[in-house]
Amino acid sequence: MTKFWSDTVRRTEPYVPGEQLNDPDIVKLNTNENPYGPSPRVIEAIQSELTRKLHLYPSPGVETLRDSIGRNYNLDQDYVFVGNGSDEVLAFSFMAFFNQDAAIRFPAVTYSFYPVYSKLFRIPYEQVPLNRDFSIPAETFFGAEGGVIIANPNAPTGLYLDVNTIEDIVVNNPDQVVIIDEAYIDFAPASAASLVQHYPNLLIVQTMSKSRSLAGLRVGFAIGDPGLIKALIRIKDSFNSYTVDRLAIAGATAAIQDNTYFRTTTEKIISTREWLIPEMKKRGFHVLPSRANFIFASHYKAPAEFLYHNLKQQKFLVRHFNKPEIDGYLRITIGSDEQMAHFLDAVDHILSSADLAVRD
Ligand SMILES: Cc1ncc(COP(=O)(O)O)c(C=O)c1O
Repeated sequence: MTKFWSDTVRRTEPYVPGEQLNDPDIVKLNTNENPYGPSPRVIEAIQSELTRKLHLYPSPGVETLRDSIGRNYNLDQDYVFVGNGSDEVLAFSFMAFFNQDAAIRFPAVTYSFYPVYSKLFRIPYEQVPLNRDFSIPAETFFGAEGGVIIANPNAPTGLYLDVNTIEDIVVNNPDQVVIIDEAYIDFAPASAASLVQHYPNLLIVQTMSKSRSLAGLRVGFAIGDPGLIKALIRIKDSFNSYTVDRLAIAGATAAIQDNTYFRTTTEKIISTREWLIPEMKKRGFHVLPSRANFIFASHYKAPAEFLYHNLKQQKFLVRHFNKPEIDGYLRITIGSDEQMAHFLDAVDHILSSADLAVRD
């Protein structure tokens, strides 16, 4: 009965996550998970933690993990915050840095959680239209009234802004916090984390779900000036002292320390992407120049929704967004070479058996 719902629940429009089907034969290319699984050291670390202290609360400060993340960026742990997936880190950041009396800015096509958090926390927002080629017009983010959030590479387009452009946006918003959501940055040229010691208004948010292959463990983190990190800790400690559990701390710490495994698997995904894009183009797809572990593609004849349904029948799950600006496109996660070769076979089969008129 909705009569018992609070005003908060009534005004909430929840985010719709990608489908998680129970079919073991389905190849999941819809939520940008990593095909290689985590480092074997993660499994060892979790197993050893399992046999030890599950009856005790984890450390609320999550020092070991923050320290390990900081080391990768030559930063002290007071520059690092960790949370239960980067979605939680983003939600806390909206609460910590944005207000109800000034509009924040984010691109009109981006991660659809941003408008959800804005509505949940009653933060006004402006959605900045993208250029025709889906690139982000950086100058339109200068002088934002209430702050900025940009996914880089952007989702679901995969397009990347270089560090100088991010720096321009940060410099041109000296009194507001600029959040850069770098969920996919390890598949791109460079993180803007190198800037946090120079700009107290820059917060970088990253996840261990993609390049570290730990979507099931739920660990994300933020890197920023200790003043920003303190604000995030205040929010967390007003909400739940232990957002990251013992198994997640053990597994994520092992993952962040195993950079050899991380580099090998990340490079494999990048090389599969670089091989896949021309293969898709040969088949009549327009593919945006992705710097992420997914591609965003549209076929000159076959409608995206048609491809989505037919691929599902062939046991390949991809993501189609029913939004006017992007409903002609599919977002396809980069799997292993073998998965993507089978995927292309399925595409060939669908295209050759369909009777398609050329689209406008
Ligand atoms: C742009 C972006 N940010 C954040 C996330 C959230 O990742 P997680 O909560 O698994 O860390 C995602 C997940 O797909 C994403 O695409």
